[in-house]
Amino acid sequence: MFHRYQILSTRTSFCFLAACWTLLPLPSAFATPSKYNGVFSPLPELEVPKSESEKALLSLGEKLYLDPVLSENMTQSCNSCHQLGKYGVDGEATSPGAFGKRGDRNSPSSYNAFLHIAQFWDGRAKDVEEQALGPVLNPVEMAMPSEDIVVKRLKGIDEYQVLFKKAFADEQDPIRYVNVGKAIGAFERTLITPSRFDDFLRGNASALTAEEQKGLQTFVEVGCTACHMGTGVGGSLYQKIGLVKPYKTDDLGRYEITKQESDKFVFKVPSLRNIAETGPYYHDGSVKTLEEAVQLMGTHQLGRDLTKEQIHDIVLFLNSLTGKLPERFADLTQR
Ligand code: HEC
Ligand code: HEC
Repeated sequence: MFHRYQILSTRTSFCFLAACWTLLPLPSAFATPSKYNGVFSPLPELEVPKSESEKALLSLGEKLYLDPVLSENMTQSCNSCHQLGKYGVDGEATSPGAFGKRGDRNSPSSYNAFLHIAQFWDGRAKDVEEQALGPVLNPVEMAMPSEDIVVKRLKGIDEYQVLFKKAFADEQDPIRYVNVGKAIGAFERTLITPSRFDDFLRGNASALTAEEQKGLQTFVEVGCTACHMGTGVGGSLYQKIGLVKPYKTDDLGRYEITKQESDKFVFKVPSLRNIAETGPYYHDGSVKTLEEAVQLMGTHQLGRDLTKEQIHDIVLFLNSLTGKLPERFADLTQR
């Protein structure tokens, strides 16, 4: 009897230890953030403007971003759909434009967007400077009739005369349409939201709780990082929605731009920075909760039914990607 008990007890304690290694998260003190080095990288530090003209460019960009003067009926600014106090989104599935019409796609966040390989769900603008010129003339967004009318309107405002001259000091005629994009783009390059995840990646193992680290581990193990990786935890490549199991949508994604058969239903893999704050989800805003968004990813992108526990853990990790908003923008939560 004694003998049997001893074996049992050794085996129990062995099993207990093994379970410890495989199932339970390691205590923070023992975690090794460096093992994620090749997978993710922390957000860059915000650079301080080096010259007076750079400073002027940023104030000009910020003013333009917030100014409804860029819309035909003066009702819409960039901030209407990308609210700086709401993590760069408006919380709607699709957004009403200047005349109340809605497009087919969900407004992605303007925070950290400059880090992506390209802009828009289908990547049709190469950077934030080029992107910013699109919505101003888009009939369902800001609906300005032409570049010339935008320029004329801005030339009629004294404050813009001064700001454009300062920001583009070496130009004869600084109020040009392309410079509107340059200024807004420069401002958007300051929209970064460092989070605890960045502290963790920089080596502070206790910046994430044990549960969040377990979620991170699950995120990596089930294969999310095949697509959501790098600085943005996404935003660095294009992939098909429904890669493993077809996903129902009428939006052909990148195909509309490239007309290549292989680009049907291909979208830019979205960044998951601040994802807990930027619902509803997916290109059409049809997915309401983060849990559902994760579950559908398991099914359609990985061909696996994630367990409730895995979804719960991943969502905990995703919450740790919520960063700090610049304080002076915290109140900007109006359309
Ligand atoms: C009426 C709502 C609306 C307004 C106003 C608006 N946007 Fe957008 N924005 C959207 C939508 C919707 C998309 C996605 C469209 C698509 O991918 O086809 C988008 C995409 C973007 C993106 C791409 C982000 C990414 O992850 O790819 C950026 C950056 C952006 N907008 C910035 C701006 C700026 C700057 C302005 C002002 C000049 C502006 N937007 C005005 C709705 C709006
Ligand atoms: C094969 C590439 C791929 C894999 C693997 C993948 N995703 Fe995605 N993910 C995408 C694409 C593409 C989208 C955009 C889908 C759309 O809008 O229709 C997306 C969208 C999302 C969204 C919604 C983002 C938003 O802004 O609306 C979340 C959340 C997400 N993925 C989480 C995950 C998680 C968690 C995993 C692992 C379980 C995962 N993804 C695996 C490619 C992938």
